[in-house]
Amino acid sequence: MTPRAPRIAIYPGSFDPVTVGHEDIARRSLRLADEVIVAVAHTSTQSKRPIFEVGERLELLREVFADEPRIRCVSFRGLLVDFALGCGAAMIVRGLRAVSDFEYEFQMAQMNRELMEPLETVFLTPDLGYSFLSASLVREVAALGGDVSAFVPPPVLAPLLERTRPGSAPVE
Ligand code: PNS
Repeated sequence: MTPRAPRIAIYPGSFDPVTVGHEDIARRSLRLADEVIVAVAHTSTQSKRPIFEVGERLELLREVFADEPRIRCVSFRGLLVDFALGCGAAMIVRGLRAVSDFEYEFQMAQMNRELMEPLETVFLTPDLGYSFLSASLVREVAALGGDVSAFVPPPVLAPLLERTRPGSAPVE
């Protein structure tokens, strides 16, 4: 029997910053794929004012997943489907927390299918305890001085507090 090619999943996002919810989805994806590529996009569909540059987000992701050789963290420019094809990915993984996510996720999944038919989008639900969590809320709570230590992986906390403390320079 010929060995099958490794199954690769792409988990794309802004990850500004990576939260414990993102971490949960990436680790769950390993149940579907042999290798998971966590891919930080230079261009996001929703325009946001970033707090970390793409390179910084990537460094934090690499620290978070340093224990898991089957997860690789990269950044990409241009269309996700083109990048995914170049990586030999069979699927795009996205987290679906609540019905409110559905419309945005459905639109992106359908557009990606129009652009690249064989690439499937797979939705995973996070642990129930993370269903309220979003990077934008974490950014806001941190900026207002709230305790976000339960919401981000340990390597992210200090840089996040540093970046959101009053007077710190915004990322261009
Ligand atoms: O974490 P986000 O911001 O919800 O992730 C959105 C992301 C990065 C997956 C999406 O904006 C994306 O795929 N960007 C890459 C450019 C692209 O392919 N755009 C068309 C999407 S249908």
